[in-house]
Parts: sequence; C-alpha cells; structure tokens
Amino acid sequence: MCAKQVTKAPKEVQTTGHSWDGIEEYNNPLPRWWVWVLYLTIVWGIGYTIFYPAWPMLTSATQGIYGPQERAAVVAEIKRFDDANGPIKAKLVAADLAAIPADDELKTFAVSAGASVFKNNCAQCHGSGAAGVQGKGYPNLLDNDWLWGGDMESIHATVAHGIRNTTDGDARYSEMPKFGTDGLLDDAQIGQVVEYVLQLSGQEHDAAGATAGATIFADNCAACHAEGGTGDRVQGAPNLTDAIWLYGGDKATLTESVSKARFGVMPAWAPKLSEDEIRAVAVYVHSLGGGE
Ligand code: HEC
Ligand code: HEC
Repeated sequence: MCAKQVTKAPKEVQTTGHSWDGIEEYNNPLPRWWVWVLYLTIVWGIGYTIFYPAWPMLTSATQGIYGPQERAAVVAEIKRFDDANGPIKAKLVAADLAAIPADDELKTFAVSAGASVFKNNCAQCHGSGAAGVQGKGYPNLLDNDWLWGGDMESIHATVAHGIRNTTDGDARYSEMPKFGTDGLLDDAQIGQVVEYVLQLSGQEHDAAGATAGATIFADNCAACHAEGGTGDRVQGAPNLTDAIWLYGGDKATLTESVSKARFGVMPAWAPKLSEDEIRAVAVYVHSLGGGE
C-alpha cells in the first residue's frame, strides 16, 4: 500500500469505503432527474403489463385489459378487401371466358389480381416477367407462339389442369417417344433427322443429311410436329420451324431432345387456386402480348 496522497476535509462527500490501490469511490447521490426517469419507466412498465399482452405463459401470454390482436386486425382487413372485391370476383367467375378481355372493368381487375397470382405461383418457373427460362423447357408466355393454344379457353384449361402431371385426370398430355434411349432410331438416323430440323428452322445444316432426315421426319415425327414441322397444339408438339425453342435449337440440344425426349411437366392449379384466381391469371397471361 502506498501512502495516501489526498487528505479529505471533514464535510466532504463520503466514500463508499471501496478502495483499489488507494483509489476510493465517492458516494455521490444519483442525479434527481435520472432517478425520476427511472421511477417513471417502472410505472410505465407496470401500466403496460396491465393494459397490453405482456407476460409469456406456457402456451400464450397474458392478454392485458385492452388485449389488442394484430392478427385479428389483419384477418379483418383481409376480409374487408375480400368483401369489397366479392361482387367483381363473382362477375369474373360467371363471365364467358372469351368475353372477359373485351370487358374493361373485368379486364382491369383480372390483370392486376392475376399479376400478383402470377408472382406468387408462376414466376419461379416462367420468370417474373413471364419470359420463360430458355433451355429449361419453361415457355415464354409473352410471345404468340403457343404450345397448347393462346385463346382464353385454352390458357384457362392449361392453367387449371396443368401439363403431364399425375394429379389431374384432365391435364394436357402427350409423350414424345425417346427415339435414342428406346432404340427407335439409330445414331445415324438421329443425326440425319436433326440436320432436317436444323434446315426447317433456317439454320446451317448438312444438305445430304437433311434430305435423308426429311423421310425419317415424315415417318416418325410428322404425326405430332406436323408435315413441315409447324407443330400441333392438340398434342402440345412445338413448332420446329420458328426460332423459338423450349430446350434449344443447336445441334447438341436437338440431338438430346430427339434421343431422350423431354416430357415437360406443369402442376394443375385448380386444387391450389380459386376459380377467380385461375381466371385472373389466365387473363393476365392472355394480356401479356400473345393472347389470341
Ligand atoms: C413447376 C414449374 C411451373 C410452374 C410453377 C408453372 N408452370 Fe406453366 N408451364 C411449365 C412447363 C414446363 C410448361 C411447358 C410444358 C410443355 O412442354 O408443354 C408450362 C406451360 C404453361 C403454359 C402453356 C404455354 C403454351 O405455349 O401453350 C401456360 C399458359 C402456363 N404454363 C401458365 C402458367 C401459369 C399461369 C402458372 C401459375 C399459375 C404456371 N404456368 C406455373 C411449368 C410451370
Ligand atoms: C407423340 C408426339 C411426338 C412425336 C412422334 C415426336 N415429338 Fe418431338 N415433341 C413432342 C412434344 C409434345 C414436345 C414438347 C416437349 C416435351 O415433351 O415436353 C416435343 C419436343 C421436341 C423438340 C424440342 C423442341 C424445343 O423447342 O426445344 C424437338 C427438337 C423435337 N420434339 C423433335 C422431334 C423429332 C425430330 C421427332 C421425330 C424423330 C419428334 N420430335 C417426334 C411430341 C412429339
């Protein structure tokens, strides 16, 4: 212990008696204002737990006298919106599908409601702007190239029942044979028919291969893709003459499409969305530019 350097006058502030290496702690009172703020927060805290939900219990919490329910408020707000939209939704469900796009009031409502249905349910596959995902088999919904049809009835049926799923008996269905995997054509024949598809779509191709491929196409492919490769909407067989591809138009991708086939699947939406939501999103898709 070193000697004390400071001497204290008698009436000076008392110390707490704590001393560290000769450093002592004054026992100053807390400032008045600070103490009052502390008391106020305590009173506020007690008041709060009386009036509002506060103390956690086993499964819920004390409710307080006011017991405000944010959840109930949200539910009420949603119901208010639903009630307000009820009549127009009923009108949308009752309307003749083909007539909706010509009805300004219905169309405006359906396009905005459909846009949000699309964001929540369709964008993960078709892209947020509905431009599809090239190479993955998710079609662009903005163009006027339709696999299964682009009028209101067709779009509605496609969305409601889906495509090649196993859950909806009315799903769109067709199955391209796996020409390579199942040995229906040999590698040379597949090479030739691919040259013909390259020719059909206006790309660089081997002329001799394409000529041989034309016969193979007529025998094996035209039943679905139509003579000349323009496609068939009844079977969802894509047009092979345009430059719009589900999976890709280069030689390697075409060879894979022909050898292994693709079998693109879309879920049915009828079990997950209400009829007014399905109609709204169908109108939205129809309005995007390619609707017929
Ligand atoms: C899990 C992925 C997936 C989701 C989610 C999805 N789709 Fe699809 N959709 C597809 C695939 C794959 C195809 C193409 C199938 C084929 O090869 O015929 C398709 C095709 C379509 C077609 C047919 C296009 C044409 O050219 O005829 C429409 C219309 C469509 N989808 C609308 C929707 C709407 C609206 C939603 C949301 C309610 C949706 N899709 C959600 C995968 C999806
Ligand atoms: C039973 C009907 C059917 C037959 C037969 C058929 N296809 Fe297809 N083809 C389809 C369907 C449906 C698709 C759409 C892709 C899918 O299955 O999801 C398709 C897709 C394709 C694609 C991919 C197109 C793209 O946009 O990426 C190519 C290429 C193709 N077919 C070529 C052929 C060739 C070549 C033959 C004959 C050797 C053939 N198809 C025979 C139904 C058929």
